[in-house]
Order: sequence, then C-alpha cells, then structure tokens
Amino acid sequence: MLDQYGRRINYLRISVTDRCNLRCRYCMPEGVQDVGMKNILTFEEIWEIVKVSVSLGITHIRITGGEPLVRKGCADLILGIRKIPGVETITMTTNGVLLGNYAKQLKEAGVDGVNISLDTLDPEEFCQITGKRELPAVLAGIRAAKDAGLPVKLNAVNRKELDPVPLVRYAQNENLPLRFIEMMPVGYGKQYVGRSNEELREMLEKTFGTAEKLVDSEELSRMGSGPAVYYRFSDLKVPVGFISAIHGKFCDTCNRVRLTAEGYLKLCLCYDQGVDLRHVLREGEKENLRTVMEEAIFRKPAAHCFERPSEMTETHEMVKIGG
Ligand code: GTP
Ligand code: 5AD
Ligand code: SF4
Repeated sequence: MLDQYGRRINYLRISVTDRCNLRCRYCMPEGVQDVGMKNILTFEEIWEIVKVSVSLGITHIRITGGEPLVRKGCADLILGIRKIPGVETITMTTNGVLLGNYAKQLKEAGVDGVNISLDTLDPEEFCQITGKRELPAVLAGIRAAKDAGLPVKLNAVNRKELDPVPLVRYAQNENLPLRFIEMMPVGYGKQYVGRSNEELREMLEKTFGTAEKLVDSEELSRMGSGPAVYYRFSDLKVPVGFISAIHGKFCDTCNRVRLTAEGYLKLCLCYDQGVDLRHVLREGEKENLRTVMEEAIFRKPAAHCFERPSEMTETHEMVKIGG
C-alpha cells in the first residue's frame, strides 16, 4: 500500500524477541531487562499479523531481534510465515553466534538470506563491544550460513575507533558484501554517534582505490531492498555498502514498517508513534486488525529527525526495536 507521502510500503521487519546472547554497548549493555514471554507475541499472533500485512501489500519479511535465534522454535515460526501466500522473501538479521546450529534449518525453512553483524575481527575488541568472547562462534556461523547455501551480507557499525580495512579484506576473501552502518542516536547509540560514512569511504579509497557507485540494476536487486548504497572500489571485486541514515538520509524512499516483539507496529525508528497490535489481538476486535494497520501505515512520518534530537520521541533501546 501507499502511505500519505506516496511511498510503497512492502517490507515488514518483525522482531521475534527482545532478548540477546550478546551485549553490544550501543544496543543493550548489561542490565537491560527483557519484557518477559507473556508480553511478546505468540507465533499464531505473528502469523495473523503477517496475513493481514500481505493483504496490505507487504511482500518482504525480515526477522530480527534482539537476537532472533534465541527465540525457541524460530525456524518453525519462519516455516509458518513461508506458508502464507503472498510472502515473497523472508530474510533474517542475526549476530551469527547460533548460526552454526541453525543455518541448515533456516535454509530448509525457506529463509532467503541472512545479514550478519560483524563489528570487528579483533577478539579483544569484539569482547569490549559485545561483552562476550564469541567471535569464533560468529565466524563459524558465517561459514555455516555459506555452506548451507544462504546468501550472506555483513553489517559493521561505523564506530569512531573502527579500522575498516581488515573487515573489508575479510569480506573480500569470503566473497561477501559488507555494509558500514552510521551509528544512529537511538537508545544507547546516542553516546556513540560519530564518523560519517563518507569519511569512512574516503579512508577506504586510500587502500582499495577509487570508489564508484553501483548502478547496475540486476546486481543491485541481488543486494536486497534496504537502504544501503553500494560502491565498487577499483581494487576490489565485491561491492561495499554504506547505510548512511544520518549523512545520507534515505527516508524519501523508505519502504518499511516494524513490528516489535511486544506487538507494537512502529512506523519510523525515530518516533514512538505507531499502534499496539497486541492490544487489538488480545483485548480488542480482531476483525479490526486490517483497518488499524492500514490507518497506521498511511500516517507513517515523512522522515526521521535524528538531526533535531529534541523532536525525537523514541526512547527505547535498539534491542527493543529490532534495528
Ligand atoms: P537488506 O538491504 O534488504 O538486506 O536489509 P537492511 O539493510 O535494511 O537490513 P539490516 O537488518 O541488515 O539493517 C542494517 C542496518 O540498517 C541496521 O542498522 C538498521 O537499523 C538500518 N536500517 C534498516 N532499515 C532502516 C530504516 O528504515 N531507517 C534507518 N534509519 N535505518 C534502517
Ligand atoms: N545505530 C546503527 N545501527 C545499530 N545497530 C544496533 N544499534 C544501532 C545503532 N544505534 C545495528 C546492529 C545490527 C543491526 C540490526 O543494527 O549492529 O547490525
Ligand atoms: Fe544483540 Fe544485535 Fe543488539 Fe548486539 S546489536 S546486543 S547482537 S541485538
């Protein structure tokens, strides 16, 4: 369906849990409590919402968290989504720690691809960022996903201290697209907002040659339908992506809404406005779900306001939103 600004909304990010097995400093440091099982949507409730979403024009589903693979039965949830007519693609964003156990199951359940977070290749730095010694598990997870035949993309948040060169080298050796993400001032991320992706790209040009924006539509369509802008560096074979929400605002082409684990339909990362679908399902009139969702999606805000912090109304941590 089209929102009030004429944008086609066809992409729903579903957070299936607000729990995580890592503790990334900018997302969910030690001490963040989860909301508890009875407050999160059941699989049946999620399927119901997906059915209605499809009737409103959603064709792409991305499963997120927290860490989606810590939710028991995540592959069964996906199997159920796969059976809903009209769902064209199902992808997942994961920290990779559990992919060694689940990659094959996910492929069999019909997952079309996984985006895996990898902020550093240095074990000590990994531990400082995530609070856990799990880098080997993540690297094994990336391998398992590739072996299972899942298309993989890597995500690295652009922290001020990040040396991007080793990550780019690793991604090239593994033949995987890597995307650098500008830190957004959401939740704990506020404390870490820093370097622009443009600055990072200029740094990379010194090592990997001149960068040219990727325009080939066939190649771009293989990269998914998210906000990343891809560049080909003259000395590299695989394109490198940049998700630049702050310095390269992409809200005018936004195609997505988000469902939190608690069942709140969020219209934009920056604002707390949206609609409580769990309430409609549990306390309200179920048959109103479509109208409630349609009205909410229609009034999706024009753009984020990260550059004007006083207007931001979202106060949750990123782990509660799903990225
Ligand atoms: P594909 O390109 O289809 O693979 O998906 P994606 O890049 O949108 O998904 P992913 O979950 O890997 O997200 C990567 C980063 O982009 C995360 O930090 C998200 O928070 C950010 N992101 C995704 N969608 C949006 C959006 O609509 N607005 C903003 N500001 N950031 C987004
Ligand atoms: N800004 C940008 N990206 C973030 N992520 C988590 N918090 C933030 C933030 N404040 C990233 C994770 C993961 C993706 C889902 O979102 O690192 O790659
Ligand atoms: Fe977990 Fe991802 Fe948040 Fe890190 S960024 S704490 S891996 S949900």
